[in-house]
Amino acid sequence: MAPRKIIIDTDPGQDDAVAILLALASPDEIDVLGITAVAGNVPLALTAKNARIVCELAGKPETLVFAGCDRPLGRDLVTAEHVHGKTGLNGPVLPDPTMPLQDQHGVDFIIDTVRAHDPGSVTLCPLGPLTNIAMAFEKAPDIMERVQEIVLMGGAYFEVGNITPAAEFNIYVDPQAAGIVFKSGVPIVVMPLDVTHKALVTRPRNDAFRAIGNEVGTAVAEMTDFFERFDKEKYGSEGAPLHDPCVTAYLIQPELFTGRHINVEIETHSELTMGMTVADWWRVTDRPPNAMFMGDIDADGFFALLTERLARL
Ligand code: RIB
Ligand code: CA
Repeated sequence: MAPRKIIIDTDPGQDDAVAILLALASPDEIDVLGITAVAGNVPLALTAKNARIVCELAGKPETLVFAGCDRPLGRDLVTAEHVHGKTGLNGPVLPDPTMPLQDQHGVDFIIDTVRAHDPGSVTLCPLGPLTNIAMAFEKAPDIMERVQEIVLMGGAYFEVGNITPAAEFNIYVDPQAAGIVFKSGVPIVVMPLDVTHKALVTRPRNDAFRAIGNEVGTAVAEMTDFFERFDKEKYGSEGAPLHDPCVTAYLIQPELFTGRHINVEIETHSELTMGMTVADWWRVTDRPPNAMFMGDIDADGFFALLTERLARL
């Protein structure tokens, strides 16, 4: 089967970095047409730099990396240095990138790429706030019916919020953008905290990254060692939750995940619940299903896949 053509939209972020590494390590299954950076975990200048650092760590400096939007559609930017560190990639010491940032704006790259490929042949993989995706849909509504699928990390239901009591970070940072995306009619697969909080880098799993014995394995171990502090302190969890790599793993082995095709709407009015993903898990409304909302993961299978692929870089 031909590899799946994707655009990764991202705010690296240690977990974004692992998601990108997994994608670049899997050319038989995934063809990364480009990576668009968005403001999120850290400001845009850093996410655009970090995306290139990760591509060079993967040994793929030919990857096309673009800068997208530097702030949410209608709200001030909220960042997460308290989780990811000042650079957004704290943990390993990695060299500054030498590969170029593309001149084209990331939103225009998304639009032009979807228009240039056959309808239904390009998948969008947002790993951060949905600003770039929403801007592309607003600027070029014709592309919505051409997108094959959106596979995103964001939201929460049973797991509730990680930035407010009600909301997960990616959705909370740009709830207006999320509202546009979830109303777009494009098929959506959601990897919420309900799933990603079950993908924890326990000590044996971190040891397995180090045991790979290449630069990538050591860097990923160091990233997750840094990144786990917040979740260990907040949730008492056994390690860092690998949120964003769940998106890439789904593209390679969808059978690792189970969920329900349900209605998901975004709170965009009340400040109390701003950015909440209101998931009709029990189908108590007649609101039409618009998203495959994942609820469970084969965590051992996920880490086996991840470790095996990182060893290829
Ligand atoms: O809430 C987790 C999400 O927010 C992840 O994508 C992480 O990288 C941050 O962007
Ligand atoms: Ca992210």
